[in-house]
Amino acid sequence: MERSKIQGLYDACNIIFSQKEVPTFQEIQWLRNLLDTIEAIDVGIHEFNIQGSPFPWLPKPGLDCCKGLICGQGVSEITYIHIHECNNFSIGVFCFPAGGVLPLHDHPGMTVLSKVLYGSMYIKAYDWVKMENSNCRALGLVGKVVDDIFDAPCEASVLFPRSGGNIHSFTALTPCAILDVLSPPYSEEFGRPSTYFSDIPIPALPGYAILEEKDLPEDLTVAGAPYLGPRIVTGLDLC
Ligand SMILES: [Fe+2]
Repeated sequence: MERSKIQGLYDACNIIFSQKEVPTFQEIQWLRNLLDTIEAIDVGIHEFNIQGSPFPWLPKPGLDCCKGLICGQGVSEITYIHIHECNNFSIGVFCFPAGGVLPLHDHPGMTVLSKVLYGSMYIKAYDWVKMENSNCRALGLVGKVVDDIFDAPCEASVLFPRSGGNIHSFTALTPCAILDVLSPPYSEEFGRPSTYFSDIPIPALPGYAILEEKDLPEDLTVAGAPYLGPRIVTGLDLC
C-alpha cells in the first residue's frame, strides 16, 4: 500500500528529531519539501463544504464531516487537530475562521515548521534582540522578521530558537488552516511553556518593538477536533 504523505512527514520527523544533534540545513530543507507537498485533504480536511453532500443530516457546521473529512470553511472558532505527539516532536493543524487571531506567543528552544494549507493568513513574527525578566515576566526589545500575508499555496516557513521569528501571531484573513511541526513540543514539565506577549512599537525605531509578557488572553479559546486523515504508523505500533 502506498505510504501517505503524512506518514512520510512523520517518518522524516522521527529520523531528524530523534537524533541528539541539531538538524542540519539539508534536513530542515527535506522537511520543508515534504510539507510543501501536503494539502488539506492529506490531513483529513476538506476546505469547502461539499455541495449536495450525501450527509445532509450531519450536525452543526465546523465539525461536520463531509465524506469523512472536517469541513474547513465551517469552523466557527480556532480549532486544533492533534495528529501526533512524542517526546521529540508534535504535528497538528490549527483551523481558523475568518478573523480568528492567535496572539503573539513564543516557542522556547524549538524549531517550528509551518505550512498554510488553504486560505489567507497574516503572520507577524519577532526575534529577541535583548530580553530580561522583570517581576518574573519576560520583557525586552525585539526585531520584526516577518510581517506578511501568506496565501495558500505558499512555501512552508521555519523558525528556530533564536532566529526566523520565534515569537509570532496569526490573523486569519479568510478561513484558513496551518499545519505545524514543533520540535521539541511544548512542555511545562521540561521548561517549554507557551508564553503570550503584547507588542509596543517604537516609532523612532521602525521594525523594532518592546515585547511584554501577558496573561493568557481571556477571549482566546481553542477547540479540539479529531484527526480524520490517514492513520500514522508509529514506532510504537511496530513493537
Ligand atoms: Fe506558534
